[in-house]
Amino acid sequence: MTKRAIILISGRGSNLLAIIKAVKEGYLKDLEIIKVISDNPEAPGIEKAKAEGYDATYVSPGAKKARFDEEGLKRYVGIIRESGANYIFLAGFMRILDEKIINSVDAVLNIHPSLLPSFKGLNAQKQAIEYGVKVSGCTVHFVDAGVDTGPIIIQRTVPVYADDTEESLAERILAEEHKAYPYAIKKLIEDKLEIHGRIVKIKE
Ligand code: GAR
Repeated sequence: MTKRAIILISGRGSNLLAIIKAVKEGYLKDLEIIKVISDNPEAPGIEKAKAEGYDATYVSPGAKKARFDEEGLKRYVGIIRESGANYIFLAGFMRILDEKIINSVDAVLNIHPSLLPSFKGLNAQKQAIEYGVKVSGCTVHFVDAGVDTGPIIIQRTVPVYADDTEESLAERILAEEHKAYPYAIKKLIEDKLEIHGRIVKIKE
């Protein structure tokens, strides 16, 4: 059965495009992306989604910096509930979700550019370089009330080289993100993810 998702973005939208490509190529044939919403009016991802034929708009989260204010929250929850979405996928969405949003759908997934639980929050690639780790990567996880703390679905790794910059590492990780996210979504919509506390089992 087709599952309906809203994708939330804040910027470039390359993970969004990777998901759209997977839908269009039939890898995610049972997924319908019903809306793309950005909390940033300038996000290049809005135009990219429109060019692919999707309903994409800026919705103000309100005046708070990293969260939603009361009015913003009402706007988001209203749109999500009205849309009948089963899932929300965060694709470079740089704002902390409120539980009211999390509870308005069956599940929320996020992609993060580090091997969680290392380097939560902003600038994960910079944190990894500065810490001196030799391996990094990306994580797709369920979103819970914490920040980057929910049960992990999949991680993909990349080496970190001595001459890496934040940008070169981010680019290497991004290539893995574009594989990891469609895979995790596929398992979710096929009901192949079993959650036992923090542990996610993938039924093959
Ligand atoms: C991606 O690297 C994503 O993992 C990261 O932002 C980038 C968005 O790129 N997300 C976070 O850091 C979330 N805390 P994109 O807009 O091209 O998908």
